[in-house]
Amino acid sequence: MDAIQVHDKTFVPYISAADIAEKIKEIASQISKDYEGKRPLFIAVLNGSFIFASDLFRRLNIDAEISFIKLASYKGTTSTGNVITAIGLEESLHQRHVILLEDIIDTGKTLHEFLPQLQHQGPASIEVAALLTKPDALKFPVHPKYSGFEIPNKFVVGYGLDYDGLGRNIPGIYQLG
Ligand code: IMP
Ligand code: MG
Repeated sequence: MDAIQVHDKTFVPYISAADIAEKIKEIASQISKDYEGKRPLFIAVLNGSFIFASDLFRRLNIDAEISFIKLASYKGTTSTGNVITAIGLEESLHQRHVILLEDIIDTGKTLHEFLPQLQHQGPASIEVAALLTKPDALKFPVHPKYSGFEIPNKFVVGYGLDYDGLGRNIPGIYQLG
């Protein structure tokens, strides 16, 4: 794999498409084991997680449902600052086993603010599956039960992740050079 250009920046190969596929196979088989007979509801956070979600979902060999949401952040007037709302969540989470799918957890702020809102609906359980985590960037306590790769605190693109709108269609993951 060669270096690539996205907008004004150069990115170098970091995780190959084959390595991602192998990791997703492992996560899917673990989830299939853990959720056998529970008919989990996956909630994929758009846009970034759409490729991760579709690859992971196809690898499951149990009954499972999936739904897609977008998160919008508003400047709130509360002391906590921003308010995060979900667009597109139509399913009731009451007594469901929920697995939230994220492409990457960076500071953890988004999920830290959003997860309590899902808890309010009274799900049977909520876990997070993230393809990538940046442990050195984490500022809020978000601990995915399923996590693909721990990566250094460097910006990455590819496999659904973008730099200013571009790069999502690149099959592997590339790191800022
Ligand atoms: P957090 O709230 O700081 O955890 O932000 C998570 C979100 O920031 C992810 O869902 C991505 O949309 C975006 N993000 C964080 N790091 C990267 C990166 O390295 N590349 C592309 N998007 C990123
Ligand atoms: Mg995202």
